[in-house]
Amino acid sequence: MVNPVLRQLYADISALLGRAHSPAEADNLFVDEGAEIFRKAFGTMGIRDKATFTPAEPGKYSRTLLVGGEEDHPAILAMEWRSGAPPHRHAGRACMDIILSGELKVTSYKEERIAEDTYRLTPLSTTTAYPGDMVVVDPRRTEIHEIGLKSDMARTFHIYPVRATSGQFFERQPSGLYTQRSCVLHAHEP
Ligand SMILES: [Fe+2]
Repeated sequence: MVNPVLRQLYADISALLGRAHSPAEADNLFVDEGAEIFRKAFGTMGIRDKATFTPAEPGKYSRTLLVGGEEDHPAILAMEWRSGAPPHRHAGRACMDIILSGELKVTSYKEERIAEDTYRLTPLSTTTAYPGDMVVVDPRRTEIHEIGLKSDMARTFHIYPVRATSGQFFERQPSGLYTQRSCVLHAHEP
């Protein structure tokens, strides 16, 4: 049984994205208007208490699909962080996070393609996010972001305009350049 607040949030985000005529337009609406919808839902009693988090093992993070996630539909996940995440992107799409507990350092990067799957990543900005803060990945600015964990553990709600089923991670080479690697994302796995 889905928490009514989450169900309403999912309906509101779906209606918002239903106005878009392209994935890019959907992402723009998601970032420009969805953030406020997400913030209001988060402020409503019940959403924090009733969300289910999967305990993360030390050095890992867990992703639990709370609502949505069908192909081409929004997805809302509960994440428990006991490790950060290396630079990555969600197939070029936006995402939003709200911090429930703990502290995350989020760095966004500008990319420069050097060769096939080899990139130079230059930090654009770094933000430390505390409980109640929102982190928004806006593809108009950059898609690539890195999550650093600054406390022993953190919990966040994560919302995607469409469920990300694939993504790319960037692995740092000794030279300082990064190798891009594709990965498949499942609802309950990183
Ligand atoms: Fe991400």
